[in-house]
Amino acid sequence: MTDANLDPIALVEPLHNTSGVLLRGCGSATPTRSISNDELGKRVDTNDAWIRSRTGIAARRVVGADESLGELSGLAAERALEMAGWKADSLDLIVLATSTPDDLFGSAPRLQARLGAVNAVAFDLTAACSGFLFGLVTAAQYIRSGAMRRILVVGADQLSRWVDWDDRRSCVLFGDAAGALVIEASTDGTDDLEGFLLRSDGSRGAVLQLPQVTERCELIGDASHQQGGFEPIQMNGQEVYKFAVREVPAILASLLNSTGTSPESIDWLLLHQANQRILDAVAERFKIPNEQVLSNLAFYGNTSAATIPLMLDEAVRDGRIQPGHRIASSGFGAGLSWGAALLRWSGPA
Ligand code: COA
Repeated sequence: MTDANLDPIALVEPLHNTSGVLLRGCGSATPTRSISNDELGKRVDTNDAWIRSRTGIAARRVVGADESLGELSGLAAERALEMAGWKADSLDLIVLATSTPDDLFGSAPRLQARLGAVNAVAFDLTAACSGFLFGLVTAAQYIRSGAMRRILVVGADQLSRWVDWDDRRSCVLFGDAAGALVIEASTDGTDDLEGFLLRSDGSRGAVLQLPQVTERCELIGDASHQQGGFEPIQMNGQEVYKFAVREVPAILASLLNSTGTSPESIDWLLLHQANQRILDAVAERFKIPNEQVLSNLAFYGNTSAATIPLMLDEAVRDGRIQPGHRIASSGFGAGLSWGAALLRWSGPA
């Protein structure tokens, strides 16, 4: 095959200059239907008082018949591009962090096609509720290496299709949403990703899983194959809670320490929105006042890879997060996986 036969969509010109990362635009999208705790109480044996007091969640959004993960991701991405003032064909890469793709082979290329991002390579990244943070750090490496200039990172999940809606211990927690962030190479050495740490521990993976279930089927002669699908989400709530309140403060402390950052210099704490009690425990550990702790899980529940960009978008659009603000962020969840990043919001050029 000659160069002339190569698909130009797959080619990215190296820039050869290492660079910092700028956070330029964000966007989000949620399904239209909100389901309150009281409504959920008609399906399983639970009630508003229990859910609110244990989690802080009052309602969650669930993808309906005319909606999809692809649609939410597309809307969130379009809004992020619009905020940045970029055309989709200026993107070099699309990273879609999701554990619930419309297509197990990957949903990012469909997003690329929908946006008309004809110059972007697109792939999915799976890291459950840590997915957005892992995706952002991954994307930043392409910029830092000088290989790419503009990248879209989307965190989107439709956990409602994998929740056991008859398991009151887990179904009350989750919701569906998409959030997006567009980042670009800086030209003056500024870096909005001031530091990061990422961790995995598969030995504890069974406390929160969406496992495959297969049966042996005859193929030919003595050869067999496995066929099946996935079981609904299985969660040991207490173990996950203990994991979060132990590891999130620890990794944030390590990051602040290694970057020489004092908690007082942080404008916002932006954690994965899993449980208000987890948010409060982490804030208490660093003596960060409530008004600097971003939280919207009352309205959306835990939307997995979407929580951080969904919250970021809300706080940027309502003016709480201003250009130059510093954000300490942490994602955590199944895998087990967790991470922390120290971010700065630059906003549109
Ligand atoms: N409504 C009413 N009662 C419920 C209930 C619900 N939705 N879910 C559980 N209960 C009951 C239990 O059956 C149990 O009753 P029992 O004592 O009669 O057996 C009681 O409430 C206490 O259950 P427990 O599991 O100990 O509750 P908890 O205080 O640990 O809270 C979670 C449960 C799930 C809210 C909490 O463990 C949690 O938030 N864990 C982290 C989960 C998470 O964030 N997952 C995603 C991470 S990305």
